[in-house]
Amino acid sequence: MNGARPAGDSSQLEIRIGEKAYPGANGRAQTAVRGLELAIERDSFTVLIGPSGCGKTTILRILAGLDTAYEGTVQWSEAPRVGFVFQEPQLLPWRSVRQNISLTAAEAFSDDDLRELAEELGLADVLDRFPGELSLGLARRVSLARAFASLPNVLLLDEPFVSLDEPTAARLRRLLVRVWSSRPTTAVLVTHNLREALELADRLVLLTPGPASVLADIRIDLPRESRDEDAIEALRSKLVRSYPAQL
Ligand SMILES: Nc1ncnc2c1ncn2[C@@H]1O[C@H](COP(=O)(O)OP(=O)(O)O)[C@@H](O)[C@H]1O
Ligand SMILES: [Mg+2]
Repeated sequence: MNGARPAGDSSQLEIRIGEKAYPGANGRAQTAVRGLELAIERDSFTVLIGPSGCGKTTILRILAGLDTAYEGTVQWSEAPRVGFVFQEPQLLPWRSVRQNISLTAAEAFSDDDLRELAEELGLADVLDRFPGELSLGLARRVSLARAFASLPNVLLLDEPFVSLDEPTAARLRRLLVRVWSSRPTTAVLVTHNLREALELADRLVLLTPGPASVLADIRIDLPRESRDEDAIEALRSKLVRSYPAQL
């Protein structure tokens, strides 16, 4: 059974994935998610962390409604409007940056909103360029802008800063926090990078190596503005001591 029904009051969505399996090349099914249960609060920033291949992308695709071939339910408290930031920016190469952002924008997203968002994300000067002219860092910003322009109530981010050099990734994480903070949205980001997770999350969900299920559910109470390098390193080493086999 699978489907979407209303979630309870306090949570934006309730996830129960009994099992998600892919048919394997040898005819044996490969189980990617098993027994994953998670309720996500409205306007929270949840980071799911787990190793490569553990089932992170599979979970996000199910939440986005891109994959309905699983056992379980995803219940929403209101009709989902999903903004998806894919691992690869997936921009249309024959459209300008402006068109890439506008194509899937919500009706209520005005030209002024676009200008403001582009300013915030440092894209104002590249709106008339084509994706092929952009660095990966800029393309990732466009992909973030496109997701926010759809005025989502849930933002799903699949390792959005992977393969960037660390200073660029750090700059983009700060931009994401700034843009997200001024636009109340429930965010679910997946990563295998613990420092990144600790910089962004107010809730960290450790996944089992696969099939994915919840290994630990950790609230990060430290305000984001206090999360400097030392604070993050302290949190990181504490977690690594608690979960030496997983982190
Ligand atoms: N389309 C697919 N067909 C078959 N197996 C898949 C497919 N997509 C993912 N898998 C398998 O499911 C598991 C989880 O994959 P994925 O969700 O992409 O993990 P992650 O995003 O954590 O790296 C992996 O073992 C992967 O090989
Ligand atoms: Mg993935």
